[in-house]
Amino acid sequence: MKRSVTSLLFAAGVAAVIFAGTMSISLPVGAAEKSGGASAAARDSAKSDGALFVEFVSVLRHPRCMNCHSHGDFPRQGDDGHPHTMNVRRGPEGHGVTAEKCTTCHQDHNLAGAHMPPGAPNWGLPPPNMPMIWEGLSDGQICQSIKDPKQNKNRNLDQLVEHLTEDKLVMWGWNPGKGRTPVPMAHDEFSAKVKQWQVAGAPCPAESGKKAETGTIP
Ligand code: HEC
Ligand code: HEC
Repeated sequence: MKRSVTSLLFAAGVAAVIFAGTMSISLPVGAAEKSGGASAAARDSAKSDGALFVEFVSVLRHPRCMNCHSHGDFPRQGDDGHPHTMNVRRGPEGHGVTAEKCTTCHQDHNLAGAHMPPGAPNWGLPPPNMPMIWEGLSDGQICQSIKDPKQNKNRNLDQLVEHLTEDKLVMWGWNPGKGRTPVPMAHDEFSAKVKQWQVAGAPCPAESGKKAETGTIP
């Protein structure tokens, strides 16, 4: 009896500390005691819940994609994502400003040689009214954002998956031109993972409990 009271008090103390630390919902002490099955179930649902998205999010987070999907009114360059040189701006449609359109320098294919403009059909940034910014978002938020018709140019899931796996601008990430690191996963593997996620109903990682892995500020 004494023993179980002590452990109950201890459990309550732990719960209080956790509560104070995170300001989240208090921990049900009873549940914590028979946690074996419950936490295994939680693990499984966490897996079906977003792990499939996390499997390929490293591609979306790569500088080859982020250089066009980041904050600011300009594209970025290089693996460090520095602002585009020559004061290149997004412009009203994402294709630059009148005096400096993207297509002045970027064509529909990479120009040969280091530091030459890379290229793909429709080279440009998303427009300012739908900028498709993923920088600073958690995995769950990126997932929600690319699925949201109000943020993804009204795409349904099939169209989103098609864009992710076939669009020429996206494909460029696997063939970015001399001197640039391609995205970190073979294209076949990426497509297979995206399709697995689609078949599972495109679940997004939960927001609570897990912080964004990049540590960037939203
Ligand atoms: C040169 C700039 C550029 C690069 C590089 C680029 N994108 Fe995009 N991306 C765009 C533009 C512009 C759009 C909007 C055009 C459209 O929706 O058809 C877009 C739209 C998207 C969308 C639509 C949904 C949404 O909400 O964002 C996805 C998904 C996407 N890109 C994925 C990628 C991935 C993955 C990579 C890297 C492998 C990548 N992009 C690289 C410019 C770029
Ligand atoms: C005056 C010429 C010029 C204009 C205009 C221009 N670019 Fe560039 N851009 C370049 C050159 C050159 C590079 C390659 C720099 C290097 O590799 O050192 C480049 C590189 C890039 C990269 C870097 C790719 C990477 O991942 O490192 C992106 C993204 C990009 N441009 C987007 C754009 C967009 C979007 C526009 C229009 C809004 C635009 N650029 C307008 C010349 C230009």
